Amino acid sequence: MKGVTVVTHPLVQHKLTIMRKKETSTAGFRRLLREISLLLCYEVTRDLELTTVEIETPLAIMQAPTLEGKKLVFASVLRAGNGLLDGMLDLVPAARVAHIGLYRDHDTLQAVEYFFKAPSDLGDRLVIVVDPMLATGNSAIAAVEKLKSRGATNIRYLCLLAAPEGIKAFTEALPDVPVFTAAIDEKLNEKGYIVPGLGDAGDRMYGTK
Ligand code: URA
Repeated sequence: MKGVTVVTHPLVQHKLTIMRKKETSTAGFRRLLREISLLLCYEVTRDLELTTVEIETPLAIMQAPTLEGKKLVFASVLRAGNGLLDGMLDLVPAARVAHIGLYRDHDTLQAVEYFFKAPSDLGDRLVIVVDPMLATGNSAIAAVEKLKSRGATNIRYLCLLAAPEGIKAFTEALPDVPVFTAAIDEKLNEKGYIVPGLGDAGDRMYGTK
């Protein structure tokens, strides 16, 4: 599928399977999400450009690779995005963070914004939007459009699970934004949940159900 990368690494797939199980505890779910986010972060940043810097090891001076350019921005779609964000910040501690508060209206399934805070220079940075579940695509599209309206031009979208309906809506609305996911499931149900999915990611992560 054009613009969509499915991260098929065996460790990602194994951890995702445990997360899907209904008997997996809140603590287990949270730990696995953190672990999986490290692996997904590795994949979504795989092609970042490098430059060289002169350093001195205990034995010699060398030209060593280092990340080029400005720092990344991780944009977390609240609240479930924070589960991916924590692990990503472990890997890229210098990244800046944006928070986008969106909730799904249960009747219309439309995204409603209640919070937005981001670095002011989004246009100079690579922005990686994180949210575990790409379901209808409504929140994902709203989040990216908001970031674009604040100047972001270089954006990637990272999730854990996607529905085919969400992928279709997102890639049609935002063909310039690559999507990274660990799996594309069968379908959405009538309540907008991904099937087979893993349930409500926020509830599973925070034990709120
Ligand atoms: N959000 C979730 O947390 N789970 C779904 O299945 C769909 C949207």
